[in-house]
Amino acid sequence: MASHQARFGEQGRAFQAPGRVNLIGEHTDTSEGFVLPAALDLRTISVLSPRTDSKANFFSVNFEQQATFDLRQLPNGPRRHWSDYPASVLWSLQQRGIRCDGFDMTLSGNVPVGSGLSSSASVEVAVAVAVLAHAGIELPKPEVAKICQSAENNFIGAQSGIMDQFTSCCGVEGHAILLDCRSLAYEPLPLPEQVLLVICNTMVKHSLSDGGEYNERRAEVQEGLRIFQAHRPAIHTLRDVGEEELRSHASEMPKNVFLRCLHVVTENSRVLQAAEALRTLDFANFGQRMHEAHISMRDNYAASCAEADTLVELAEKQPGCYGARITGAGFGGCTVNLVATEHTDKFVKNVRAGYRQATGIQAEIYLSRASDGAGPLM
Ligand code: GLA
Repeated sequence: MASHQARFGEQGRAFQAPGRVNLIGEHTDTSEGFVLPAALDLRTISVLSPRTDSKANFFSVNFEQQATFDLRQLPNGPRRHWSDYPASVLWSLQQRGIRCDGFDMTLSGNVPVGSGLSSSASVEVAVAVAVLAHAGIELPKPEVAKICQSAENNFIGAQSGIMDQFTSCCGVEGHAILLDCRSLAYEPLPLPEQVLLVICNTMVKHSLSDGGEYNERRAEVQEGLRIFQAHRPAIHTLRDVGEEELRSHASEMPKNVFLRCLHVVTENSRVLQAAEALRTLDFANFGQRMHEAHISMRDNYAASCAEADTLVELAEKQPGCYGARITGAGFGGCTVNLVATEHTDKFVKNVRAGYRQATGIQAEIYLSRASDGAGPLM
């Protein structure tokens, strides 16, 4: 806030929006399936003060750069610059008919970029909540999430699902949320004190900003879907296809398409099983589902990477580690580990040392509590 005042001469109002870690349920949101993420205490802070003209100035503390847009004439596509994310939200708000006067905004954050912890969703949501407050408009949080998802889909060009923005908006302190990405109904599930979520960063960056492999995998899933639709035209997404049905049509699709669909279909079941395990505090069972989810992400969805596989193998050898898997879109980024609280110090030390020895890379490791979703910064 002090840096906002120093730069823009006003104290401004501050808001925050968290990143997220997904415990299980990867690449299912885009098929209207189930996910089980938690909002992190890593977050983006936005500070906004009004202007009297139609300019929107964004200063990024992280990039040490300012970008300026004219609200009467916003760009409608990305320039491959950090300011694409704030611009995309302004654009998406305008698409929804939401307009506002000019403003100055300072953005800062500690969600590691390109690491599968939804740094972009946290920026989008932090911008959206600040601008909506500035415009004097209150929307239900799931609506804010949809506006930000549309920014990402239709401005940035990543065909991502609703999970990241939804979690950043609707996260619940001390809880993971079981989200049905079709109805957007969600159930907060307590994360008990006996266990901690330990997040290990491979330090291999991924980027969804050009769509790339993320969109390619989605296209393969869509190709599979079309085959089912030929048999059952009422189906809209793979959410409605079971494993048995998928296997019975395997010969009608290329191997890669079958494997991508197999991941999505089996992952949906794993999320529901894992949620039940969390409800009954059966961490061993939960961890087993995480293990299976990682193998499926690696072998069926082909979205892991050697470094993440190494981190998971190392983690699974540690005492007190119930489960480990790559989290987020994949192709790099982080692993998430469910670790018995009393074993976390040793876990962190051993995994860090083992990873350095195996790859020469110094991993960053985060121990984060599950946090509330976006809102004014108290
Ligand atoms: C990215 C997307 C999400 C989701 C995950 C994979 O984070 O933004 O919508 O698809 O990948 O589960």
